Parts: sequence; structure tokens; C-alpha cells
Amino acid sequence: MRKILVLGNWKMNGCRQSVSDLLSDLVRRFKPSVGVELAVFPPYPYLYQVQTALAATGISWGSQSASETLAGAYTGETSMAMVADFGATYVLLGHSERRMLFGETDAIVAKRFKVALEHGLKPVLCVGETLQQRESGTTLATVCQQLQSVIDLVGTGAVARGVLAYEPVWAIGTGLTATPQQAQDVHQAMRRQLAATDSKAAATLQILYGGSVTDANAYDLFNQPDIDGALVGSASLKADTFLAISRSAAIIQ
Ligand code: 13P
Repeated sequence: MRKILVLGNWKMNGCRQSVSDLLSDLVRRFKPSVGVELAVFPPYPYLYQVQTALAATGISWGSQSASETLAGAYTGETSMAMVADFGATYVLLGHSERRMLFGETDAIVAKRFKVALEHGLKPVLCVGETLQQRESGTTLATVCQQLQSVIDLVGTGAVARGVLAYEPVWAIGTGLTATPQQAQDVHQAMRRQLAATDSKAAATLQILYGGSVTDANAYDLFNQPDIDGALVGSASLKADTFLAISRSAAIIQ
């Protein structure tokens, strides 16, 4: 049985005070439930604050990106080792905002996935199609290619040591959620793609959905057989909505 994973991507939001308020709300109200895992992804400057507040609470954390280079003269970069040094469990990779705004290619994402595993982090590989790709009928080809470039570098077994997140670009921050069936179809196609080379890895890999997830739509999404949780953006900035999403997961488990 795969656990349901509810991840909160804070993106470039917050300040020391708001992060402190959100963390104390989360710690005060969080009730662990069997089969459900929670993690938050703050901007880098707040990783230490998050580590300090969440250590031993049962809520994990990660960074929103990290470099494939190891150390040295790379001004502005943050290494996987640095992220791991803050007790992070996860690192997000290949988010569509990073692909579109910061030029992250499939090749860079695949390299980062490999380096993340080498540093004991669980990479969360984000894939997703644009509205234009969906309308032209190339959704599955797009996401399967994004996934394949990582499989080609590390192998299917290693992909299953991370997490996969399907985030249709047209659903991010727009209030337009993919229907549970639309998301399920893509998740199932990716699981089949993995099963072609490693059925055990395919069966164990957690595949999350992201894109305008709220406490109002989470239950129906989690109820699909191949949806194993959510990568939540704006609704993760408030403890009450984020925890309500995780309660929907707890009902299903
Ligand atoms: P929203 O939940 O704000 O649509 O963001 C989704 C997302 O990009 C999470 O990584």
C-alpha cells in the first residue's frame, strides 16, 4: 500500500515572521495519521527556521530546487549537500516554473535527480504539459518524454527511490484543476511506462497531482487508484487548508 504524500510548495513567498507563524500553526494543529506523510518546501533562507521548528514533529521538509554541481565557484547556486545538511528529506526538481523561467532542461533535471539520490535526498520529479500541448493531443507524449529522460539516466528502479508529480501547467495557480479522471489517466500512463521495465518499481512509486489543489477537491483526487497525494502551492501557505488537504488523505487511507 503506497502512503499518501501531501507536499506544500511555498514558492517565493513569506518572510521570517510569516514563516514563523505558519510553522507554529502547523506544529500546533498537526495530528499524524497512519499512511499519510506531510512535507513543506520553503525558500532556501527559511530552511534553518523550518528545520528548527519541524524537527521531531513528523512533518518533513525539502528545498524547491538545488544544483547538480557539487561545490565551488558557482555564484548563486545551492548544492544538494547543503540542502541535506539542513535535514531535508526531499528536493523538488523540474517544476514547470523552473523549466519555463529558468531554462531547466530535461537533461539538467535528470542530472539533478541522480545527484539528489547520491546525497540521500528524495527527488520529487515534476512533469506536466502546457495548455497548447493538451489541446493538440500531446499530453502523454510530453510527460512521458520528461519522465523518460530521467529513466534513461538513472534507470527505473532509481526513479522509484524518488517521487513523481504530475502538474499540468494550465492548472497551476489558475484555479483550473484537472478533473480526477484527467489526472488519473496521466498517472496511469506514467505508471505503465515504468512497469514496462520494472513492475515492482512502478507499483511502489508515489505519483502526486499538483495544480490548484484545495481542501475542496483533494478527496476526489486522492480517491483515484494512481493518485498518491498532492503537490500543493497556494493552499499550502495556510495551515488550515494544508492540514484539511491532509485530512482528506487520512480519510482515504
Ligand atoms: P497551486 O496549487 O497554487 O496551483 O500551485 C501548484 C504548484 O505549482 C505546486 O508545485
